[in-house]
Amino acid sequence: MYNFNEKPDRISEKCRKWDKKIIEENFGEVPQDFIPMWIADMDFKVPKEIEESFCEVVSRGVFGYTYCYDEFYKAVIDWQYSMHQAKVEKEWITLSYGTVSTIHYIIQSFCKSGDYVIMNTPVYDPFDAAASRQGVNRIYNTLAIKDGRYYIDFENLKNQLMEFKPKLYLFCSPHNPSGRVWSIEELAKVSRICKENGTILVVDEVHAEHIHYENFTSILNIKDYKDNIILLTSPNKAFNLGGLKTSYSIIANEKIRNIFRDKLKQNSITSPNVFGIIGLITAYNEGRIWIKEVSSYVKGNYELLEGYIKNNIPKLKIMKMEASYLAWVDIRDTKMSSEDITNYLSSKAGVLVESGTHFVKDGEGYIRINLGTQRENVLEALKRIDKALNIK
Ligand SMILES: Cc1ncc(COP(=O)(O)O)c(C=O)c1O
Repeated sequence: MYNFNEKPDRISEKCRKWDKKIIEENFGEVPQDFIPMWIADMDFKVPKEIEESFCEVVSRGVFGYTYCYDEFYKAVIDWQYSMHQAKVEKEWITLSYGTVSTIHYIIQSFCKSGDYVIMNTPVYDPFDAAASRQGVNRIYNTLAIKDGRYYIDFENLKNQLMEFKPKLYLFCSPHNPSGRVWSIEELAKVSRICKENGTILVVDEVHAEHIHYENFTSILNIKDYKDNIILLTSPNKAFNLGGLKTSYSIIANEKIRNIFRDKLKQNSITSPNVFGIIGLITAYNEGRIWIKEVSSYVKGNYELLEGYIKNNIPKLKIMKMEASYLAWVDIRDTKMSSEDITNYLSSKAGVLVESGTHFVKDGEGYIRINLGTQRENVLEALKRIDKALNIK
């Protein structure tokens, strides 16, 4: 059993989540005893096997250029199969330097200035930024809310694809910020509509390893449309390895894959980082138990949050966190805007959450709370939020 109650030294590490200077650039002045629950970064030590594999690399004392050796492909193939029952061929896999930068390269590969991409909103902000930075237009398919859960408006989606013929559909599965897990039927429908309209479906599955409710289906299992899909993922969210800046794509269609690889070549995205590749291999080969335990711990944090809010802070309403470690909270009953409540909680309670407005469109009225931390921090944050909101 791993001890996720143990607090690692996150100050010496100089991580963005805990660095007071960076925090104050984002939130203004905060009290000394702040609790950061914003950026998607977890406060848990990685499995000891990863630490040991890094120590081994360090002990060699040489850090020359490396390459994608067979163990990398095998680790990805085995992981995708054992975790998601997805059969992947070695040829389909391409290493890259982080999912967000890969989204940029994907857009550069398939869109020219003035083209369109589509995404469901609200969604992870870099989806939009990556397109706007290339002069690419965005179409927003606003998610509908029914009984406190997001749904895709398929009628509108179909019309938007027919009218604008977007080159790409940037799809987040499971969804960030809400943690919504899409059903196999929804994924099949999305895939079919894309294929019928000549839109490549780009699926970001970085949150697929922490599933708490519902069944997750990998887009690779929607087999009829496999030739129209680009899957992007990494162990970065799952194992908190974001600082390694290593990720990969899975593209079955050779033509699509080669267009993308040419773009990577143009930018000299070739050999991996020596720690990045070993981190990924070790996480995937030896991290199964850790993932199971960390997911269970995070689910415990979510249950604490859900129960506490229901019983004590009725002004807040949570969307069920079906996946990830990020809880999406409806704050509209507080009559404050997302920015105001975020600023209020950071300055008065020292609790740093993400304003819903930091996501692409439709995030007003929400905040996102990062539960990838020690339970003690979650409880303390809840008490402080409770006190701050109940005196207002
Ligand atoms: C949906 C989604 N994609 C990508 C990323 C970042 O991935 P990477 O660190 O591999 O760039 C995040 C981080 O929060 C995310 O939520």
